Amino acid sequence: MPKHLGVNIDHIATIREARKIREPDPVAAAVLAELAGAHGITAHLREDRRHIQERDVRLLRGIVTTHLNLEMAASQEMVQFAIDVLPDMVTLVPENRKEVTTEGGLNVAARLDDVSKVIQTLKNNDIIVSVFVDPETDQVKAARKAGADFIELHTGRFADTFEKSGQAELDRELSQLQDMIALAMKYGLRVNAGHGLNYRNISYIAALEGIEEMNIGHSIISRAALVGMDRAVREMLDLIREAERK
Ligand code: PXP
Repeated sequence: MPKHLGVNIDHIATIREARKIREPDPVAAAVLAELAGAHGITAHLREDRRHIQERDVRLLRGIVTTHLNLEMAASQEMVQFAIDVLPDMVTLVPENRKEVTTEGGLNVAARLDDVSKVIQTLKNNDIIVSVFVDPETDQVKAARKAGADFIELHTGRFADTFEKSGQAELDRELSQLQDMIALAMKYGLRVNAGHGLNYRNISYIAALEGIEEMNIGHSIISRAALVGMDRAVREMLDLIREAERK
């Protein structure tokens, strides 16, 4: 099966929240991402609401025609919200107020009881549930015990290794990822991957057998800002020149 691309639009909202005005709207970005061929849209409604807002997720639910994946903490407040909005999928992630981004996987092994309850409640409401976990055996086993449908393997360590270390370390990371995919599939879990994937390192992850979808945010939003710069500046200059001529 060809691998899917899920586009995480959080950082469009990060730019909007820098001014607390209406643009750029992550909902508009989602429409454009889908028109370009994205297989799914991901948004993370954080407890601190630093980028995506509740309004965004509700509107996304209305307009996303592919697959809406809501990333959220495994908390009662978020479970109620998810049941109200009914995304296609929820990906449970850890949250720490001070973190710059999601830093590690959810420690499902240490929170088996409460994560299992959250997963069951979401599944009872026909929401597919994924858990974002580090590529470690105990976390994959715990994801199975907790009743998840999918795991999303955290590729942050792979991405760091790609930037900072040699081929031998990179091969070790890739083989660990491949082993965790195989273990998950043996348990009947489906597998996504994400975090830190970019235009330089994607070929390694896209080549791994068994991954269904890659969720990518920062690198795509960054590239969009840069490849869009030429047009954005030209459009503004055109308006200035036109006004001068009047
Ligand atoms: N998957 C999960 C679970 C995440 O928390 C994030 C970051 O919000 C991503 C994927 C996307 O990571 P990045 O922005 O580095 O592409």
